[in-house]
Amino acid sequence: MIILDQKQRQDIGLARHGDMSQEFQVDILRPFGPRILRAKMPMEYVNALNEQCDKILQDDNKRKELDESAELVGHVAEELRCDMNVPEMNPFGKFLGNLTRGLHDEFMKEKGTRGNDAIPQQIIIHSSWFVRSFEADYNPTHIHTNGTFSCVAYLKVPEGISEKNTRNTKEKYATEGYIDFIYGSSSIVTPGNLCCMPVVGDLFIFPSHLFHTVYPFFGEGERRSFSANISLTSEQNNVS
Ligand SMILES: [Fe+2]
Repeated sequence: MIILDQKQRQDIGLARHGDMSQEFQVDILRPFGPRILRAKMPMEYVNALNEQCDKILQDDNKRKELDESAELVGHVAEELRCDMNVPEMNPFGKFLGNLTRGLHDEFMKEKGTRGNDAIPQQIIIHSSWFVRSFEADYNPTHIHTNGTFSCVAYLKVPEGISEKNTRNTKEKYATEGYIDFIYGSSSIVTPGNLCCMPVVGDLFIFPSHLFHTVYPFFGEGERRSFSANISLTSEQNNVS
């Protein structure tokens, strides 16, 4: 960025540090660490996902058959396999695929590397599931190993999860029910985590090797999310 006026000098904090009256170029570089895509999903996708989950819950046999809790690390009420191959999921599947490609393509642009346009990037969804959690449930710090990208989308969030903690109200740093993405360790001008409040319709796509954890919340209601493990077929040719 080029520092042009007093407001910009104040914004970046330079006005406090001596004579900054001349125009000059300043860049803050953010060169390291995983990229995370955040998007707002159309509500029709949230509704379609909730409908599929609710249908499973109404059928005891399906509920047992689709129970994925033995394969997943969460200390949560229920983890149920999602079927992305039904027609109702097609629009959301395309949306998810396009955004995953978008995250990949943006990174390639950022690095100044062009992908090979001749190779179509097909999306593979290896696995997908719903996570239902209630008071005091949590998900220990973990990575995903099946696929190169993972995602989480929020389908239901209880009122108790907010910008304030409900149990430890003295603690100003809200974490109850939040997801925390963790990379490296924190130091001066070096963040090592990104802690996010779940909001219905928010979707995050991230590299599957990125550590993440979910903190418990306290109070009534269900925190429901959708997750998937994803790969792009041509990424070995494109990622450097
Ligand atoms: Fe996870």
